Amino acid sequence: MPKKVIFDVDPGIDDAVAVCMGLFDPNVEVVAITSVGGNVPPAQATRNVQVILSQVDPPRWPRIGAATAPDHGLPTEGRRIFGPDGLGGVAFEVAVRRDLRPSEKVICDEVRAAPEAVTILACGPLTNIARAFLRDPELPYLVGQLIIVGGTVSGPGNITPAAEFNIYCDPQAARTVFRTPCTKFLIPLDVTNQVELTLDWLQRLPDETTRIGRFVRKILHAAFRGYRQELGLEAIRIHDVVGLVALTHPELFTFVEMAGDVETIGELTLGATVFDRRRVPAWRHNIAVATEVDKEGVLEEIIRSLHAAAAVAESQPPPIMGK
Ligand code: RIB
Ligand code: CA
Repeated sequence: MPKKVIFDVDPGIDDAVAVCMGLFDPNVEVVAITSVGGNVPPAQATRNVQVILSQVDPPRWPRIGAATAPDHGLPTEGRRIFGPDGLGGVAFEVAVRRDLRPSEKVICDEVRAAPEAVTILACGPLTNIARAFLRDPELPYLVGQLIIVGGTVSGPGNITPAAEFNIYCDPQAARTVFRTPCTKFLIPLDVTNQVELTLDWLQRLPDETTRIGRFVRKILHAAFRGYRQELGLEAIRIHDVVGLVALTHPELFTFVEMAGDVETIGELTLGATVFDRRRVPAWRHNIAVATEVDKEGVLEEIIRSLHAAAAVAESQPPPIMGK
């Protein structure tokens, strides 16, 4: 029985690859893709979700949620690495829909439609998740599980010395979500930074004769340029893809129950995720945190999953142009 999944994303190249894998994975039923501002402004994130769908044309198109700006605006963005449009500056064409409902409404609808059966994979700031929980106070009890990509446990941040990007973009939303009673898993930078795609891995991706291969090669090569120019790295970090593999193959990870919260006012520490690891903790456990990863296993699963996706996509009739 495939897992019902809502992808909440701020595409972002790593978001886009995770969505491609999920859309064609026989063990995943993508019931909705809800966009959120983060790497790119809300409207661009909503457009990028539609670009991904039109480029890979999955067997079943999920519901789409439209992103709206967080209450306090976005303090930063990720276009230095992901390009001006968030997808490598490839300037994909797409017919943007005007009839989309807000992401938090779509989340409430889809969770209510399948109580305790939906997994939410949060690959961006937690704005939509917090808004859905505030809109429907019963929702935290109805979500099957919430997997959050982001935060740090022991390592440094990536947008400030203390904070990871997704949490930093909307710390108040993150605190709201951390403090809800739903079953939560965190895939922090301590783990996702260990899984790096180098050029030799890029050669193993599906080739350009497949639409999946064409799409992921275009955006990942752009990401490679971004990581080299901005971070001096000869590799790409694919945080959200690691988050998806944690959903489909949790056996490749070690999880530890922890008590975590989010700094919402610190001058230097705004957006930091803080965990009570004192010998006698006072905080109650509220989240299972990935502390170890089989990085070779994750990398092999990414390559396997993308080739399987390419095979499924090519077995379908080609998309009707202009769709
Ligand atoms: O810190 C990494 C996270 O921030 C990833 O989800 C990336 O896409 C950005 O959203
Ligand atoms: Ca993301």
